[in-house]
Amino acid sequence: MAAECMLTLRDARAIADAVDTPVFVYDLDAIRQRVERLHSTVASVAPFGFTLRYAMKANSCLALLQVLRDLPAPINLHIDASSEYEVLRAMRAGFPASRIQLTSQFPVQNVAAKFVQQGGSYNACSLLQLQRFAADCAAAAASSSYSTLQSTTSSSSILSSPPHVCLRVNPGLGSGGTNRTNVGGPASSFGVWHEQLDEALRIAHQHSVKITACHSHIGSGTDPTTWARAADLTLALVARMPDVTTVSLGGGFKVDRMLAADPIDMRVVAQGIADRLQNFYTLHKRKLHLELEPGTFLVAQHGCVLSRCVDVVSTGAQGYTFVKLDAGMNQVLRPSLYGAQHPIFVLPRGEEERKPPAADGDVCLSSSGATITATEASCIFVGPCCESGDILTPSPGDPEGLAPRQMPFMPQPGDLVVVGGCGAYCSAMATGNYNSYPLAPEVVLLPNASPRQQQQHEEGRMWRVARQRQTLEQVLENERPLY
Ligand SMILES: Cc1ncc(COP(=O)(O)O)c(C=O)c1O
Repeated sequence: MAAECMLTLRDARAIADAVDTPVFVYDLDAIRQRVERLHSTVASVAPFGFTLRYAMKANSCLALLQVLRDLPAPINLHIDASSEYEVLRAMRAGFPASRIQLTSQFPVQNVAAKFVQQGGSYNACSLLQLQRFAADCAAAAASSSYSTLQSTTSSSSILSSPPHVCLRVNPGLGSGGTNRTNVGGPASSFGVWHEQLDEALRIAHQHSVKITACHSHIGSGTDPTTWARAADLTLALVARMPDVTTVSLGGGFKVDRMLAADPIDMRVVAQGIADRLQNFYTLHKRKLHLELEPGTFLVAQHGCVLSRCVDVVSTGAQGYTFVKLDAGMNQVLRPSLYGAQHPIFVLPRGEEERKPPAADGDVCLSSSGATITATEASCIFVGPCCESGDILTPSPGDPEGLAPRQMPFMPQPGDLVVVGGCGAYCSAMATGNYNSYPLAPEVVLLPNASPRQQQQHEEGRMWRVARQRQTLEQVLENERPLY
């Protein structure tokens, strides 16, 4: 079944009237439920314990992080951070360091003093990172005073002796929705290449660092069969790492933003992992605690961009009808980058104005007054940037191809348009201030806690602005004039 629009017409109008468009909207309650379901599905079968991390690179909105931080036991959601800035952001959102793991492509300096001494865990993603971590720990242990990333934090050192570290491995196999989301195998720079494991073990031994966890993440949008093979390869490496007690199999669980239902059954995936951990125990007599760190799977389907059609242009009978929105690559880069597919819904201005699916011969009026035939209700949706790549409906997997969408009626300037599947890797990954457009605001739909709110829900969801629209002053604030 095709994905449905997450906003009612009433809510969309209320939000657009109050904060204007484009605006990100996230359904916090739906995300909470999704996290709870995934946690209970995996925790109920994981034989030796389970920790769920949220890969905050997917969406680092403060309001969302706060909801995730406060999920009740037994969830105790942890964070996968991909830079020291994400670590800081998670801590500012109230996550203790002990619930954060840093997995960064960038070899962060002084990670022990800054973060691990406060209880955070570090995932070394290269031999250099491992070496540097060992040196940092030695320096931090030698020094009685250390700075903290959070100036307000005054925790005492909890650096274990010997220091513990997680090792990210590249198991030799990758997968992903596209080559750009594939982060495993020989064409990927992520993690220690599996053939260099002995070198990693030697470095750890030489510097008295204990590798107690092993991590692999092979890509986003990975199909379950490849994912299971990667899990097998990772466990084969863990068998050679005697101190490892935790295995993190990353994220990457497939979501099809165009569909209402998940393309994978997480109960089957979870059981597959549980069986592997049980077999590992039978063979090696070692109980492995399991970690997973999805981003997409938890948030992608519960966010959207509410936008407006600002123009409609046609390139004639042999060409296309382009529906221009006030939202595009500045908010949703994935189509331009990967040829990713997002559902698009045009909201009627009023029931009476809703046109039936266009039939050959119908005519509509474009903003310029030119007539556009009804066959052009098949639309290419584009964004407002001066960039031919600013396109929301490319061919699947091919950002350079154009794939017209059949819409039930021809959008017209002023129509509200919802781009779905924008909860993950949209706000967090957008092209920011390109063309000097300000960052779009973020609005969160709130849970309906009380019966009164429930009643209001029937009249319209409660919502709140979680991030305001950027002002031009904020766009320019770090610039310094030459004269
Ligand atoms: C190390 C790591 N873990 C987890 C994830 C989350 O992946 P996804 O959002 O596809 O679940 C990523 C994504 O790039 C990642 O790099």
